[in-house]
Amino acid sequence: AHQWRGVLREYADRLDVTDATPIITLGEGGTPLIPAPALSARTGARVWVKFEGMNPTGSFKDRGMTMAVSKAVEHGAKAIICASTGNTSASAAAYATHAGITAAVLVPEGKIAMGKLAQAIAHGAELLQVRGNFDDCLDIARDLAANYPVHLVNSVNNDRIEGQKTAAFEVVEVLGDAPDFHLIPVGNAGNYTAYTRGYKEEAERGVTTKRPRMFGFQAEGSAPIVRGEIVRDPETIASAIRIGNPASWELALTARDETDGYFGAISDAKILEAHRILSSEVGVFVEPASAASVAGLLERAEAGVIPAGSTVVLTVTGHGLKDPQWALQAADGSEVRPTSVAVDVDEIAGVLNLAPSG
Ligand code: F0G
Repeated sequence: AHQWRGVLREYADRLDVTDATPIITLGEGGTPLIPAPALSARTGARVWVKFEGMNPTGSFKDRGMTMAVSKAVEHGAKAIICASTGNTSASAAAYATHAGITAAVLVPEGKIAMGKLAQAIAHGAELLQVRGNFDDCLDIARDLAANYPVHLVNSVNNDRIEGQKTAAFEVVEVLGDAPDFHLIPVGNAGNYTAYTRGYKEEAERGVTTKRPRMFGFQAEGSAPIVRGEIVRDPETIASAIRIGNPASWELALTARDETDGYFGAISDAKILEAHRILSSEVGVFVEPASAASVAGLLERAEAGVIPAGSTVVLTVTGHGLKDPQWALQAADGSEVRPTSVAVDVDEIAGVLNLAPSG
């Protein structure tokens, strides 16, 4: 029986992987590209969702982490370090422990989702909660990597971007060409940069007839790229993208200009509305940051930017189980309380409005 072998083996010819590279993999990649008829009906486009929550630790970070950790071990590293809003730390912890090396992770105290914190701890990371924000954590991680024997695995490490570009290859394999538009949530803009590179390579290989327009979406309270300036105190309920000074800012602007792309800002209310639409109409459960691409689609379609019939791919970056509390909040902000019933068939049939079947 065939089993997906992880992105380094599946795409060995398109990554810097040699016989000297130990392949540290948890089987990442090969995630589903799911048609989303409910979003197509709302927008007139042909919409697909690349569900990156289906990776081993529940986010797209695994594609980059398999590459970064494999290369780190190839170069003799015994310890890796990262700053994280949660997903990178969960992924780094899992791949490091699989490789038998140490992961140190710096996270903003009180600002990462419970599921992600639990993952990093479960996988045995040295987890430190820094009394600062993500941008402070990244400054410190870079400083430590420059001055101590720890290997940095944030997306400023090009191996991360290389691994993550494989998601674009998978999209092209399923669609047979590049989409017209690719929409994606943005924090550090590493993933935006990675997809742009992946699609560019596909075009250069002659496998596709076009490159997609790359649209990236930040949360309104954390939108430095949209505003054109560093945000000192970024805020949003989408904790994964609560970033005020993106590491790949310059690369992202180049990618935008090359692809006739766009960066937009989405309010937390619109992120939560899109989160609800995706889970209740499409059947895909994501964490709030991931819903920024869905909200971005609805906003751009409304603005008339996405012609009817266009092929649109949305990356949804992280699984809903990492940060499930948002599903238990109704549209008006009230708490959702499941109905309680007795151990009684008649009562339950009544509550479910079931009539006897004859
Ligand atoms: N979506 C999710 C779920 C994320 O965790 C992140 C980044 C992004 C989107 C944005 O990706 O930074 O490449 O633009 N999370 C990082 C982390 C910062 O530490 O887990 P980006």
